[in-house]
Amino acid sequence: MELLAWREVDLPDDVRAIPTMLSPDELTLLYALARDHADGRGAIVDAGCFLGGSSVALLAGLRDRDREWTGPPLSTYDLFRVEEYTREQFFKGSALKVGDSFRPLYDQHVAPFTSPHVVHEGDITQIGWDGGPIDVFFVDVLKSWEVNAAVQRSFFPHLIPGRSLIVHQDYGWGMLPWIHLSVELMWDSLRRLDVLPWATHVFLLERPVDPDVLALDPLRDLSAADRLALLDRAIEHNEGEARGMVALSKASLLGYSGQRGAALELIEAVEADHPGNASIKACADGTRVMLQASGG
Ligand SMILES: C[S@@+](CC[C@H](N)C(=O)[O-])C[C@H]1O[C@@H](n2cnc3c(N)ncnc32)[C@H](O)[C@@H]1O
Repeated sequence: MELLAWREVDLPDDVRAIPTMLSPDELTLLYALARDHADGRGAIVDAGCFLGGSSVALLAGLRDRDREWTGPPLSTYDLFRVEEYTREQFFKGSALKVGDSFRPLYDQHVAPFTSPHVVHEGDITQIGWDGGPIDVFFVDVLKSWEVNAAVQRSFFPHLIPGRSLIVHQDYGWGMLPWIHLSVELMWDSLRRLDVLPWATHVFLLERPVDPDVLALDPLRDLSAADRLALLDRAIEHNEGEARGMVALSKASLLGYSGQRGAALELIEAVEADHPGNASIKACADGTRVMLQASGG
């Protein structure tokens, strides 16, 4: 499959106007996938839509297609609750406190876009997927072992082999080892199509994945040694900055297994391999803070 020439695509101003955690390149990728790649055989899913940046990129893409979209509605998911780490950048000067709903802001941002759209408010692990085929799965919600395992079980079986794209927003950041473990479990069925620095990696589901593999919870069903071996394999499957990020992800995993000394040594080695890389430095610092906080 030729991945779209999305880097040549112009991002509309009404997409740029929405507050988002995504980079302009990530928004352009989503816009182009909805406009030029999706064919209506399956749904487009935006798992973790926050204030609507990703949703608006996808909705604008549906709006700007050559022919009217007749496929399933865009399906978006979020808790829509203010979290502490988002307050300074996104809610400064607002009366909203941690835990308050920002759903009205989301609704305001998506209101001008009239393509079919279903919003699922609440915990994605409880809501799950409705069972139809999924064509484009943008996943920006895998912030814990639990959510990762639940999404893997509920959504991934509905991807279409040979067709569906997984847009893994957090693959390129090194503090979420469950993502690298899940991708590694599915590795023989995937082909990586694109890599954006420190963030999104795009995978094509080339072949079906054994349902037993998708039912696996990497934390509950794999031994610590198996998890570390899989992470080593994931490191080998990456190069450049992404390789460093996945190695940092292994450092988190070592921390979870109580091997703090080995984790700190690995972090230093990664920094030495990527001198002057600000993203690696930020992720390395974040991993150290996480290790400290968890006492790992
Ligand atoms: C990194 S943000 C998404 C950024 C967004 N895609 C954008 O365009 O700015 C992750 C989102 O996942 C949501 N989230 C985290 N855990 C969730 C859960 N269990 N169920 C549903 N949403 C969840 C958070 O509320 C947050 O808005």
